[in-house]
Amino acid sequence: MIIKTEQEMLEYGKAFAKRIHCPSIIELVGDVGAGKTTFVRGLAIGLGIKEPITSPSFTISKTYALPQGGNLIHYDFYRLSDPGLMSEDLSENITDKNNIIIVEWGESVTDILPKDHIIITIKYNEDGTRSVTQ
Ligand SMILES: Nc1ncnc2c1ncn2[C@@H]1O[C@H](COP(=O)(O)OP(=O)(O)OP(=O)(O)O)[C@@H](O)[C@H]1O
Ligand SMILES: [Mg+2]
Repeated sequence: MIIKTEQEMLEYGKAFAKRIHCPSIIELVGDVGAGKTTFVRGLAIGLGIKEPITSPSFTISKTYALPQGGNLIHYDFYRLSDPGLMSEDLSENITDKNNIIIVEWGESVTDILPKDHIIITIKYNEDGTRSVTQ
């Protein structure tokens, strides 16, 4: 699927929210600036989260309460070759069936993610559009 603009990516994330339920684990794959966090912003809107989503790059994870209970937990393991304690935090949150977990730059934690998790790949095209595959 081709996504032409930031707005379309937000809409895609928002629509995706209707297709998932707790628990869900989503890994986002794509280069810097591909649109992963933009997708999460749309997803959060679709899930009814009113708080603005900001990139968790420096804190590694951010937690947002879902209106129906449970949390959306957004991880970003960018340049973290050894996730250390954060991988334990992730494992624990995966076992909680009320959570929706979304991971950017998850290469260092692939062993922890369940085999059947959702993987969304976003590719940056030369014309500025993005190709999304799931
Ligand atoms: N079609 C598009 N889809 C998504 N984002 C787009 C698109 N066109 C332009 N953009 C812009 O690209 C940027 C994507 O940034 P975003 O933070 O979502 O990327 P990211 O994949 O999370 O990067 P990082 O790996 O650094 O976390 C935003 O500034 C957004 O406005
Ligand atoms: Mg990001």
